Amino acid sequence: MTDKNEIQAQLREKSDPQEQGMPVPMVVLLVIGALFMWGMYYIFSSDLRNSADMGDNRVAVDFKIDESGIVDGGQLYTAHCVACHQATGTGVPGVFPPIAGSEWVVGKPEILAQIMLHGITGEITVMGNTYNGAMPHFDDKLNDAEIAGLMNHLRTNFDNEAETVDAAFVQAQREETADRTTPWNGDADLEAMK
Ligand code: HEC
Repeated sequence: MTDKNEIQAQLREKSDPQEQGMPVPMVVLLVIGALFMWGMYYIFSSDLRNSADMGDNRVAVDFKIDESGIVDGGQLYTAHCVACHQATGTGVPGVFPPIAGSEWVVGKPEILAQIMLHGITGEITVMGNTYNGAMPHFDDKLNDAEIAGLMNHLRTNFDNEAETVDAAFVQAQREETADRTTPWNGDADLEAMK
């Protein structure tokens, strides 16, 4: 009796599932083949020497324009000057001269503009101390509005107080010394501009 029942139960079982041979549909194969061909064509037909100037070249500071339309000099200072002149504008004794209290920063704006446009080498005296390093030039890196914004930042921060300038002022300074390709020679050149 038990035997018969067991066989009946076995017969009611469904067979175990089993993977069957299901070929990939022809259409899918064709699509894959077509995509592959297109990929190869795309790789070999595209010019990989795209100009590095592609895209819009704006950087963070370009979006930081205050109400007066003048570029945020603080941002530019952080981006271009902090490494040497330090966040507090005190410089590094004996190596990088200070911005804070410097007679060159609060003096004639023409001199400050020229320093930033063309840089300085050779001996320069700042607040009684002599430095002999190399200050990079920014004439090719910053436009007139940026240099004006930066000058104003230097002249009204770090406890400095001096009148501000606008982009037209920097433009005139740039044109005046447009032929110059070398940095100013420290005190020797700059004293003469005072
Ligand atoms: C690579 C380091 C370096 C960077 C970056 C740099 N400077 Fe200078 N800077 C110097 C050195 C060095 C001198 C002194 C040059 C010399 O001894 O002939 C100097 C001198 C100056 C002076 C005249 C002296 C004084 O302290 O008043 C000013 C103004 C100045 N830098 C402003 C700037 C501004 C603004 C920036 C950013 C746009 C900047 N510097 C970026 C190194 C640097």
